[in-house]
Amino acid sequence: MTGTAGRRGYAIEPGFESRRAMANRKSPLPRAWNALKGWNVAQRTFMIALMGSLILTACSDGKQAGGKKEVNLYTARHYDSDLPLYEAFTRETGITINRIEGNADQLIARMKSEGASSPADLFITADAGALWRAQQAGLFQPVRSETLDSRIPENLREPNGNWYGFMRRARVVAYDSAKVRPEEIDDYAKLAGPRFKGKICVRSADSVYNLSLVGAMIEELGADKAGEWVRGIVGNMARPPEGGDRDQIRAVGAGVCEVALTNSYYYIRMATGDSEADRKVTERVKLGFPSLGGKGAHVNISGGGIATNAPNKDNALRLLEFFSSAETQRHIASQNNEFPASPDVAPPPPVDAYADFVANPMGVAAFAARQPEAQTMMSAAGWR
Ligand SMILES: [Fe+2]
Repeated sequence: MTGTAGRRGYAIEPGFESRRAMANRKSPLPRAWNALKGWNVAQRTFMIALMGSLILTACSDGKQAGGKKEVNLYTARHYDSDLPLYEAFTRETGITINRIEGNADQLIARMKSEGASSPADLFITADAGALWRAQQAGLFQPVRSETLDSRIPENLREPNGNWYGFMRRARVVAYDSAKVRPEEIDDYAKLAGPRFKGKICVRSADSVYNLSLVGAMIEELGADKAGEWVRGIVGNMARPPEGGDRDQIRAVGAGVCEVALTNSYYYIRMATGDSEADRKVTERVKLGFPSLGGKGAHVNISGGGIATNAPNKDNALRLLEFFSSAETQRHIASQNNEFPASPDVAPPPPVDAYADFVANPMGVAAFAARQPEAQTMMSAAGWR
């Protein structure tokens, strides 16, 4: 997930209807009954039964037609800022989006338990590691789309078309500019050295973002060097891991530590958001983009894939293509502060001020597949 800002106040819905849709779905029977004034009870009853069977037929026709007018979206994105996107898609295509929201693990578990009868069409989440786990669970079917291939660079999608990233986020460093010189944090390796003994704040090993970063370390440097790095980071921690990325940035601001690992959008949100206290923190705490193996900063994605048993596969593909459009990427970048995945989409404000960094070109599927190894390595090092 990309944080909690704008998170809607509900989790998984009980069915394929938003609460609003459920509230609007009042029983038509009392109105129908009144409309049949002047009919006797037997005639009314027959008419109501006939109408009921017509409604049922209409419903089942809609389903059998492959859900031509709908798509079931399982999404770990919870932002009010996404609502205009859904509305725009429905306006453009006439396809209604039924949303099921939850965190990535909840949605993966739900799709697994629904099995072959799962109504899921498209699964969207943040982090290549979560998408990889869904793929490992057999929840995606590969698709080929010239539109997706032309918009999404090869390293930001799964090689066989199981999932595609449409937004980028870098996992980088927030540092106290009064104490740390930028060249001291220009390589992830430096964070594990003696200079930062007791100076690092970072969230727990449960964080899929950290698992992906360590996975990328393994992929780039090999298991031995990555293991050394992980042990170095654990040895340099200013405190046991607690809280999310923004808590680490605030801890740097409060002098608890000098550097913190964070996803870029959390910092950008603090620097440009509504909270005066957070903006104040970022006057002193700056964002640095370290390099991994001399090739650039570790980049992850938000993305999605088509469900294995998608009843509305064509619509799911249209929605995924919609998410990859330049307009959608610009919208999400401006609202949610991730970077566009497409090199042709100019980053809009406020992310444009941070977008000029060198990104490690590693394939997202490569580091995602290293997550189990990363998990073992982090546990062994005592990164809790
Ligand atoms: Fe996040």
